[in-house]
Amino acid sequence: MSKSILITGGAGFIGSHVVQLFVEKYPEYQIVNLDALTYAGNLENLKSVEGAANYIFEKADIQDADALDSIFAKHNITDVIHLAAESHVDRSISDPMAFVKTNVFGTVNLLNSAKKAWAGELENHLFYHVSTDEVYGSLHDGGFFLETTPYDPQSPYSASKAASDHFVRAYANTYKMKTVVSNCSNNYGPNHFPEKLIPLCINNIKNSKPLPVYGKGENVRDWLFVKDHARAIDTVFHKGKAGETYNIGGFNEWKNIDIVKLLCKKMDEKLGREPGTSEKLITYVTDRAGHDLRYAIDATKIQKELGWEPSLQFDEGIEITIDWYLANEEWLDHVTSGSYQEYYSELYGKG
Ligand code: NAD
Ligand code: TYD
Repeated sequence: MSKSILITGGAGFIGSHVVQLFVEKYPEYQIVNLDALTYAGNLENLKSVEGAANYIFEKADIQDADALDSIFAKHNITDVIHLAAESHVDRSISDPMAFVKTNVFGTVNLLNSAKKAWAGELENHLFYHVSTDEVYGSLHDGGFFLETTPYDPQSPYSASKAASDHFVRAYANTYKMKTVVSNCSNNYGPNHFPEKLIPLCINNIKNSKPLPVYGKGENVRDWLFVKDHARAIDTVFHKGKAGETYNIGGFNEWKNIDIVKLLCKKMDEKLGREPGTSEKLITYVTDRAGHDLRYAIDATKIQKELGWEPSLQFDEGIEITIDWYLANEEWLDHVTSGSYQEYYSELYGKG
């Protein structure tokens, strides 16, 4: 195998698309998916690759330094694509320490294991850290996030991601590790855990349950189809310049309330309901504490320098997404009932 790539968080939403893309597109690479299988990790996301000859799954926590060292040695890891994280802002508000432990402490553990495993030949290996646009803070007066925008994280989640980004850059500067960081806007698509806005609304519309819109629904997010993010990660991994940062986004801003109304309209059509039926489910609820007003990525650098651009328009991507959730009732049932967490023991025969 020409490379042995450790992908962390590969059982999660974005990680599962990255693992699938790499396993299928690069049979000459060995892909080692390391995931702790928290509530957000679901091996059912990876059914299409689980028997592939170049795919290995390792259940491990990035907080466990010894486990990381032995996985680096056992699989002769040549490169890392690091996605494992606690990723939900609302959970970070109720339990910030879980975010410090995984996103900060876990990332530093991973950097240390990589540095140890690659000692004396750091220039031959890449540590790719996947991050978020939320590290730049909240836009109030127009404009876009550039790679040079100063960090200004506003939630415990974004503060923990910002800290991890800083550690990655500090290891590049101090120890001369070859690193690259990308900061992406909000993703949507298949395999998205239904605690986040779009899958939560799709699931609730399907079940005629209230659609909780925080505050007035005026907050703006910039949405990118998850497979386009996975393609961007492939591009940055292979073509990105060491030490650089790349912003990833689709120039696709939406107010939350407009997204929710769009989902209602499209799902009324698909479910054969009277127009306007699902909009009645919209319920304005207490705003999120410290709710960032607007995120918007300027993705010119990755487009110009690396030739990546999104393949899908939002209208197509949201259709694919709704259709996927409607066609994958079993996935949704397992996730909402919690039974997806038994899939690991069924597959690997241990607890
Ligand atoms: P997710 O919550 O769906 O998945 C996270 C995965 O990491 C899960 O499989 C979970 O089991 C695993 N994990 C969590 N803690 C772990 C630990 N301590 N050790 C090992 N594995 C652990 O997250 P996602 O939405 O797929 O996000 C993936 C990455 O992309 C994160 O780093 C996130 O910050 C970043 N990101 C997400 C978005 C987005 O819109 N979702 C946008 C930009 C960047
Ligand atoms: P979310 O999907 O949690 O992503 P993030 O906070 O990382 O951007 O939320 C997207 C937007 O939707 C955000 O402005 C908060 C809002 N939101 C709601 O209005 N209702 C909800 O139930 C959720 C989960 C989010």
